[in-house]
Amino acid sequence: MEIKITLTDKPHAKPDESALGFGKFFTDHMFLMDYTEELGWHDARIVPFANLELHPAATVLHYGAEVFEGLKAYRTPNGKVQMFRPIENIRRMNRSAERLCLPEIDEDLAMQILDTFVSLEQDWVPSAPGTSLYLRPFLFGNDPFLGLHTINHSTYVLIASPVGSYYKDGINPVRIMIETEDVRAVRGGTGYAKCGGNYGASNRAGKKAEEKGYSQVLWLDGVERKYIEEVGAMNVMFMIDDEIVTPALTGSILPGITRMSCIELLRKQGYRVSERQISVDELWTALAEGRLKEAWGCGTAAVVSPIGELAYKDQIYTINDGKIGAVTQKLYDTLTGIQWGKCEDTESWTHPVPAKN
Ligand code: PLP
Ligand code: COI
Repeated sequence: MEIKITLTDKPHAKPDESALGFGKFFTDHMFLMDYTEELGWHDARIVPFANLELHPAATVLHYGAEVFEGLKAYRTPNGKVQMFRPIENIRRMNRSAERLCLPEIDEDLAMQILDTFVSLEQDWVPSAPGTSLYLRPFLFGNDPFLGLHTINHSTYVLIASPVGSYYKDGINPVRIMIETEDVRAVRGGTGYAKCGGNYGASNRAGKKAEEKGYSQVLWLDGVERKYIEEVGAMNVMFMIDDEIVTPALTGSILPGITRMSCIELLRKQGYRVSERQISVDELWTALAEGRLKEAWGCGTAAVVSPIGELAYKDQIYTINDGKIGAVTQKLYDTLTGIQWGKCEDTESWTHPVPAKN
């Protein structure tokens, strides 16, 4: 599909790479494309970054018809730019869209959009250690009326933000609060889809956790509130004895691309990785018996993030003396080595971004 490009005549100065934080700065342009049943996807365009104009009755503003993705472009030591497993994000976005009855995007077209946009914005990919260009595609229902009907008009947008580490303390262990009242998702709901509504449902517990000084919430299953699911913005893994355990994908948690990559890397490194149910009770027993050795979260924004402390009801449990463990560190080094092009990509996970025309 032809992508019409209108360049900005007011390019911004690039932010200081040592103080990027997460999601605070945006590049000079954005990509947009519209869908109607009559025309399919059409009017693909890159335009100067600006506010969106929406009808006040737009479906997304009332009925939460929105899905999104998060992936990164990395600057390699030789100055080139590469994305990490973008096809997996494209496929997951289509699975999310299917759940919300939003239109899917042909995989080749979605890749063409990412390649064209990142290539155009590649000067925005930072090079300081630990930095990258975070890409946020999102897709929403955009019909200008209030009736609750099948969506006819949708809009797809892609924006990009140069980022540093997601947590203010970088790779230092985070403190996580286990939520015992609110739940994020249930089987049959939208837990496996990356849709805005899941995050809306998480807000109240997230606020409570932040007020108590925790970085994020660890969710329990929505039926018995007994089994571990995932953290607010990352999947979780525990090392108990010599087994690495991560909750199985049962429909209520996000099938993380970092989770999948970590499982593949760990298995290749010879670890036993189980995708299975794990209860809070099993975790506390393992902790009390000194068998819970390490815990970490994994996600695109959070990368691999050690968990140093877990709070449950009135109890606070420290893991590995609040320090990053050897397995977590090795996993972080291997994964980020591939992502930033410092190690050989034996898995063919990286996707080079075409050079600028
Ligand atoms: N779980 C949730 C709720 C998330 O928001 C994320 C972040 O995208 C993840 C898990 C990790 O997914 P991924 O590794 O694909 O970024
Ligand atoms: C990501 O890691 O890409 C996410 O989408 C997490 C987000 C909630 C910040």
